[in-house]
Amino acid sequence: MQSRQVLVLFLATLAISDVRTKEVQECEELSEHSYSYICREIETFEQLQQYVQEDWQSVKIVNEHRAIESDGQMLDKLSKLQQLDLSAAGGFTLGERGLRDLIALQQLNLSHSELDELHAKHFADNASLVSLDVSHNDLQSIERTLMRQLPNLVYANFSDNAIASVEPDAFKDQLYLRHLDLSTNEQENITIGSNANLRYLSISNNNVRDFPWCRLRGLPRLEELHLHSNWLETLDMAIFYALPQLRVLNVSNNNIYAIQRNLFVGPAPEKAPLLQVLDFSANNVKLLEADLFNRLQHLEALNLHYNQIEKIAASAFGRLSKLKSLHLQDNNICELPDEVFGNLTALQLLDVSKNNIKQLSANVFGSGVLRQLSWLDLSHNNIEQLHPLAFSSLPYLQQLRLARNKLISLDIRMFAPLRRLQLLTLGENRLQDIEQDVLDTLDNVEQLEINNNRLTFLAALQLPQLRRLRIEGNPWQCLCLDELTARLDERGVSYASANSAYYSGRKALCVVTPLEQCIRDLEAVRAHRIVESYEEI
Ligand SMILES: *[C@@H]1O[C@H](CO)[C@@H](O)[C@H](O)[C@H]1NC(C)=O
Ligand SMILES: *[C@@H]1O[C@H](CO)[C@@H](O)[C@H](O)[C@H]1NC(C)=O
Ligand SMILES: *[C@@H]1O[C@H](CO)[C@@H](O)[C@H](O)[C@H]1NC(C)=O
Ligand SMILES: *[C@@H]1O[C@H](CO)[C@@H](O)[C@H](O)[C@H]1NC(C)=O
Ligand SMILES: *[C@@H]1O[C@H](CO)[C@@H](O)[C@H](O)[C@H]1NC(C)=O
Ligand SMILES: *[C@@H]1O[C@H](CO)[C@@H](O)[C@H](O)[C@H]1NC(C)=O
Repeated sequence: MQSRQVLVLFLATLAISDVRTKEVQECEELSEHSYSYICREIETFEQLQQYVQEDWQSVKIVNEHRAIESDGQMLDKLSKLQQLDLSAAGGFTLGERGLRDLIALQQLNLSHSELDELHAKHFADNASLVSLDVSHNDLQSIERTLMRQLPNLVYANFSDNAIASVEPDAFKDQLYLRHLDLSTNEQENITIGSNANLRYLSISNNNVRDFPWCRLRGLPRLEELHLHSNWLETLDMAIFYALPQLRVLNVSNNNIYAIQRNLFVGPAPEKAPLLQVLDFSANNVKLLEADLFNRLQHLEALNLHYNQIEKIAASAFGRLSKLKSLHLQDNNICELPDEVFGNLTALQLLDVSKNNIKQLSANVFGSGVLRQLSWLDLSHNNIEQLHPLAFSSLPYLQQLRLARNKLISLDIRMFAPLRRLQLLTLGENRLQDIEQDVLDTLDNVEQLEINNNRLTFLAALQLPQLRRLRIEGNPWQCLCLDELTARLDERGVSYASANSAYYSGRKALCVVTPLEQCIRDLEAVRAHRIVESYEEI
């Protein structure tokens, strides 16, 4: 009985493996009449020829167990193929003829093909190739002869290779080239030379230390330049003479220690540069000097996150009337001068968190109204003095983060102008009391965080829109906390978070007092030393 079962099982296994061997090599159409095929387990182009029909346009090779090789045969049956994707072929050996017989090929994907060289002889004369992806290989150089063989390229991706040298002017003859990706390679010097039509160039994540913009002078139509993650220390002046059409510049993650006004010179003295996005994050900039960005009148996004900025001149951002987002977080800013953000009338998002700001005066946001500003982060600073009128220019604010500062008390005038405020964080400050009239100004707030302060009681809570409140980490009188949570439960406001130390019992949520009721009086609380006894727990 048992042995028969084993036999049946054995036969069944045989049957399955038989089906598998039959399926090993095959091509299937992706969908009906798409003329696009996936072919599996193909070792040579000669094998592929046995499947390919006259009307096939696109083939993707998927090999699980072996690589593919182009052998010495004429490959005339592949001469009508327009798209070939070998990125999942498990490697590609170019052989003698390479891809020379694929004269109709327009899109070629050689990503992840284990190639260490690619030469002109591997392609048809005057190849019709429009898109070439050779990312994730081991190429070491790019020759001009290769590129000349591919005059119709629009898109070329050489990222993730080991390219240390690009022959000067290698791309000069590519009249249609628009996207060139050379990121994640080993270039020290920028030698790409000229190209009349290029719009997108990435040389990010290479070993570039410095270069004059004039090396890029032959790229009159370049719109996006990515140079992030190199070793740049300085940037030469007058970028827009070289790149008059530049709209996006990313020099993030270098060692640049200064931004100089003359960087932004060009394309003509009276003509404002077209730059819209400037990413200078993760560098070593220390100072933003007066009128620094004055010429960038089209700038919409400025990222200065994670530098070492200590000082900002009042007029540094003075003319950026189109700026929508400004990132200044993670710097060493101690002081924000009066009016510094006052001219940013298009600003929507401002992040100044993780700095060392001690006080916020009445006029930092100017005297007019910044109607677009809806998102402001001032958390993780040392703000002790917050002028009651500091936010009076920001009536459209929806999210305001003030957590992790040193605020001791709040003033009714601070939040009263913020009629649209939905989120307010005040956690990790030193608040001892939030008066009833201050709370009453928050009537649109949906999320409020007052956790980790020195609150022992809270005035009657109205806040009709409130859905989430963080309260833990305060020396609440237990009686006051019970009243508060009862009200929150009744209204369906969430406040507990299960995995926090406070709600799992590891940290105290309140202080038991000998009193019979919740006292809502700061003097009495002080007399009973409730805060001190909480701090001892
Ligand atoms: C090439 O193939 C890779 C892997 O399948 C894919 O991620 C990439 O987008 C393809 N390249 C192009 C240009 O389509
Ligand atoms: C190469 O192609 C270009 C444009 O596609 C054409 O003008 C030129 O005559 C071709 N040259 C040869 C040698 O076929
Ligand atoms: C080039 O290929 C890399 C790796 O596949 C990809 O991340 C990148 O987006 C591609 N570049 C462009 C410009 O498409
Ligand atoms: C890069 O340029 C510098 C200065 O022009 C030169 O000393 C260096 O040898 C060049 N590096 C390479 C890899 O060509
Ligand atoms: C700039 O490069 C960084 C990588 O260092 C990347 O995180 C960021 O998104 C890029 N910014 C833009 C605007 O492309
Ligand atoms: C704001 O703009 C006006 C007009 O362009 C200018 O006079 C003033 O200096 C600017 N303010 C700051 C702080 O840059």
